[in-house]
Amino acid sequence: MTQSTKTDKDYSIYFQPPSLKDAKKRGKEDIQVHYDFSIPEELQGFGKDKYYMIRTYGCQMNEHDTETMKGMLEAMGFQSTDDKQQADLILLNTCAIRENAEDKVFGELGHLKTLKTERPSLLLGVCGCMSQEEAVVNRITQKHPFVDMIFGTHNIHRLPQLLKEAYFSKEMVVEVWSKEGDIIENLPKKREGVKAWVNIMYGCDKFCTYCIVPYTRGKERSRRPQDVLAEVRDLARQGFQEIMLLGQNVNAYGKDFDDIDYRFGDLMNDISKIDIPRVRFTTSHPRDFDDHLIEVLSRKGNLMEHIHLPVQSGSSAILKKMSRKYTREGFLELVAKIKKAIPDVVLTTDIIVGFPGETDEQFEETMSLVREVQFDSAFTFIYSPRDGTPAAAMEDNVPETVKKERLQRLNELLTELSLQSNQKLQNQIVEVLVEGQSKNNPDMLSARTRTNKLVHFKGGLELVGKRVQVLVNEVQTWLVKGELIKKSDKQAI
Ligand code: SAH
Ligand code: SF4
Ligand code: F3S
Repeated sequence: MTQSTKTDKDYSIYFQPPSLKDAKKRGKEDIQVHYDFSIPEELQGFGKDKYYMIRTYGCQMNEHDTETMKGMLEAMGFQSTDDKQQADLILLNTCAIRENAEDKVFGELGHLKTLKTERPSLLLGVCGCMSQEEAVVNRITQKHPFVDMIFGTHNIHRLPQLLKEAYFSKEMVVEVWSKEGDIIENLPKKREGVKAWVNIMYGCDKFCTYCIVPYTRGKERSRRPQDVLAEVRDLARQGFQEIMLLGQNVNAYGKDFDDIDYRFGDLMNDISKIDIPRVRFTTSHPRDFDDHLIEVLSRKGNLMEHIHLPVQSGSSAILKKMSRKYTREGFLELVAKIKKAIPDVVLTTDIIVGFPGETDEQFEETMSLVREVQFDSAFTFIYSPRDGTPAAAMEDNVPETVKKERLQRLNELLTELSLQSNQKLQNQIVEVLVEGQSKNNPDMLSARTRTNKLVHFKGGLELVGKRVQVLVNEVQTWLVKGELIKKSDKQAI
């Protein structure tokens, strides 16, 4: 694979350029569900004696896509490695959400160039959300020609074929479909640990003005209920203790079905009857959070009393510019309704500071909303303009130093709230699911409460994957410590 032979002409045969313009002209085409995925027989031994490594950036959706790619690669005979020097194939599963996410990937490509020069047989691939961006594909083809393959989020199931093409051709293989994306069922997945991710829907149709996701992940499309339920039952049979249902906006689940009236509340209700101890979901857009869902969640059982509910801003004017389709008052009403139905609920959120034109007063509205709701924690970000999104064209008169200062003040407030919330657990007995050894101290186990709080306590590895009772005796800002009381009896689920 001599790099110098790669020219524009060579890769053009495979190149179907992604286009933000096309993505915006989102149509009403039917989504096809495909149940016939298989790895062609001639590719099943393709990875024999070869090692792969996948670097994953971004959200849980991407983490889960990585599990799918691992599943496919291992079905082709590849083995996993953490050692770059040993890897025959390195894939970067990228994230495009903010500029710094993209910078990390370009930085990594710089390092990999050296490796590739030393060992030309190494195969390098870039996939995930960045590959869906026109500008990124152009930059890689022009400035990083040593990359062997680029494929998009709608092309993951084509990995076996793309790998074969990349191995046998001199050209960079680029396959990025900007079509809306179908649903491919029955893809192999390599899951590890006690928790499992389950996609319930793909894509996003919300087009918040700052966000790249609707362009990188395609149109909102829900998996059929019977396919989701079958997967959850199977995970229960395999012994998984917790599932996390995934979607960019899980509350929009089922809105795209035109043959059945079945929404997220119905799905949660059906999942609550399956014998899997813990069920979580992310992410919940406040706009589609309906009363039926609140009622189902209030019955608890295996549905956890933690809701990640991104607010983004506490100012109605900014929310309007973000096109979030709810106001500050609407959000507070929703929170009040949820708290009334589930009094011990824990709420977490995402917040963007320094949106174009955000005034001091508007930022203060975010601070006061955070205090009022008493979020337990939040992911906080400085606004990052994304090419092709409406907000990128808005006038931004907020200096970078002001944005940084706002972020710092917000984070200080969140630190205060997290400590306060953890203090409520002092001397309480909590049920936790043990996830593994603590990273910093091998004598300690790391576990989570139903409300997703981190708990460390002393215990043996035989407790991993078990639910146990812990008495909290030390409270810190981001975690609590405790001592083991007893293994839980059969839980009432
Ligand atoms: N679908 C989820 C969010 C997924 S992206 C939802 O709507 O809640 C995760 C978070 O990244 C968002 O909630 C937002 O806070 C942040 N984010 C998205 N685009 C951003 C941008 N351009 N700049 C800064 N933060 C951004
Ligand atoms: Fe982005 Fe908004 Fe969709 Fe979330 S709901 S993924 S923030 S466009
Ligand atoms: Fe990033 Fe794509 Fe997720 S942009 S946050 S990896 S959906």
